[in-house]
Amino acid sequence: MREELLNINFEITNTCNQNCLYCYNKHNRGEFAGNPMRTLLRLFEIADIKQLTITGGEPTTSKHLLECVVHARLQGVKVVVITNASLVKKKLFKQLIKAGVSQFQVTVNSSVNAIHDKMVAINGALQNTLENISFIKKNGGEVIPSIILTTQNVGSLEDTVDLFQRLELRTIMVNRYNISKGDFSKELTLSTDRLRECFQRIDTLANVHDLTVTSNVCTPFCILNPKHYPNIQFGACPDDPKFKPITIDFSGDVRLCNHSPRVVGNIFRETFNEMLYSSYANSWVANIPTYCADCKEYDDCKGGCKAASEQIYNSNLIVDPILDYNAR
Ligand SMILES: C[S@@+](CC[C@H](N)C(=O)[O-])C[C@H]1O[C@@H](n2cnc3c(N)ncnc32)[C@H](O)[C@@H]1O
Ligand code: SF4
Ligand code: SF4
Repeated sequence: MREELLNINFEITNTCNQNCLYCYNKHNRGEFAGNPMRTLLRLFEIADIKQLTITGGEPTTSKHLLECVVHARLQGVKVVVITNASLVKKKLFKQLIKAGVSQFQVTVNSSVNAIHDKMVAINGALQNTLENISFIKKNGGEVIPSIILTTQNVGSLEDTVDLFQRLELRTIMVNRYNISKGDFSKELTLSTDRLRECFQRIDTLANVHDLTVTSNVCTPFCILNPKHYPNIQFGACPDDPKFKPITIDFSGDVRLCNHSPRVVGNIFRETFNEMLYSSYANSWVANIPTYCADCKEYDDCKGGCKAASEQIYNSNLIVDPILDYNAR
């Protein structure tokens, strides 16, 4: 039976030109020499999907990016590309726009070169990224900038939103740094007080400048309660696995969420039904962390991001690690 799915995050490659301090996907690094088109063809054979979100690694490092986009568009699928846009590849961006990419999501952590470049560990990255954003816009492409909130960049938040206004970018994603394996996780994580203060500032900016601001990293409500920030649209992690941010890498390996390190199967071997309704997949709903057992917010909050718990504790039974980092 063909599965009907709203969105697939497709990790076209795991290579990357940046080395961001905050990257949740670094442990997936390594050289890859295969062809993701084979995986995409298999995906379209077994599923009807509405949107393909191409991510990685850095998609623009893949020589198969344009081919994958064209193929998806021929199937009538909406295509979004998540890119750091720091490689100078104007011809490629022009071709992607022509091929029908609906949206480019580009991370800009700060308007200050030194801050952004330090966070992505590449000198000169911000300058290239901003040049590409202007180029994409000039050529008719839509750009959604995203900021990853860490201890490093919160000081320049207002200036960064100012920069977005000058670039006429009025829909913005602001995500807290989601804790993941890596040397810098403690150093990057904001305290509860600073995170709340930051979201307050973003909420005010959204209101004053009439911006559309979304925030998609699930956060425990006892750290950040969406009802306190009425001008920010918060995403939630749905119970139904079909609506989770299902992620497939170039080899066909499937994960329930891009932030989760755990592979639930491979599209060349297992059916979606087997992968999405396994006892492990069900445990994302069934496992209620002890910490949350008596909490009235649980139905909406779900203990924050279960993928982050898997990153740090290798278990979705423990509440989001941000609570530990903030010494609950
Ligand atoms: C893994 S990246 C891959 C695509 C591309 N290389 C890029 O950076 O845009 C996908 C998205 O996840 C974001 N991201 C990476 N690590 C994160 C983390 N620990 N918490 C929140 N967002 C993160 C990036 O900023 C980017 O928007
Ligand atoms: S550019 Fe993207 S994939 Fe590369 S290190 Fe940064 S967040 Fe990770
Ligand atoms: S469900 Fe758990 S993480 Fe969420 S608000 Fe309640 S205690 Fe905090």
